[in-house]
Amino acid sequence: MSGTLSMELEEKDYEFCGHPLRITMFKGASLGVSSYVWGPGVILCRYFEAMKIDFTGKKVLELGSGTGIVGILAVLLGGDVTMTDRPYVLKQIEYNIVANVPPSHRHHTKISALAWGSDQDKFQPDFDVILGSDLVYSPTQFPGLLQTLRYFCQDKTIIYLCSDVKYREGSAKFHNEMVPEQFNSEVIHTSGSSCVFKLTRKIPGNSTSF
Ligand SMILES: C[S@@+](CC[C@H](N)C(=O)[O-])C[C@H]1O[C@@H](n2cnc3c(N)ncnc32)[C@H](O)[C@@H]1O
Repeated sequence: MSGTLSMELEEKDYEFCGHPLRITMFKGASLGVSSYVWGPGVILCRYFEAMKIDFTGKKVLELGSGTGIVGILAVLLGGDVTMTDRPYVLKQIEYNIVANVPPSHRHHTKISALAWGSDQDKFQPDFDVILGSDLVYSPTQFPGLLQTLRYFCQDKTIIYLCSDVKYREGSAKFHNEMVPEQFNSEVIHTSGSSCVFKLTRKIPGNSTSF
């Protein structure tokens, strides 16, 4: 069931990998794009479900978490997950963690402010997995996003990005031209106009992806 709790909160129900999720969007809090569950977020969750992805033992970082739907699923699939976004979005993420992650698992979650291109140095680049859904829509943000992804992408790191490559401004150019200059990148899943990309570190002088 989905519904409106008040003028300010709207909730939507999902189920992935047998985990029911009730995601609340702070519609009255002027969070802009952060107060929606975007299609690429749902597609990335469905991809994890289809591939039976298990994050047990993995240190996971989510960029631009928004409502937190993807990061919360990653916790429920076993990960130690740091969910990040701009400072004013963190309360919404916290609300959804409390609503969806059992108390026994909450110590596997962290919430931090992380603005792309400026805050990454405050974190250790020791994550196994980086997640990002619907991050690629504003070309002015691309250099900062790429800088952040480069910082976190170590030899062992796998980055999963899910983007709409047709309807989001600059997204096709970002994924087809900008990303391959700096990362190995492949499309591992397509749904409508959205794709799930898997990025890994590009070793200088080695042009072979996989
Ligand atoms: C379109 S929303 C996607 C939210 C969520 N990942 C989803 O799929 O539903 C993009 C998110 O990226 C965040 N974001 C955009 N630019 C950012 C930046 N420069 N630094 C940090 N976060 C940013 C926004 O605050 C927003 O929560």
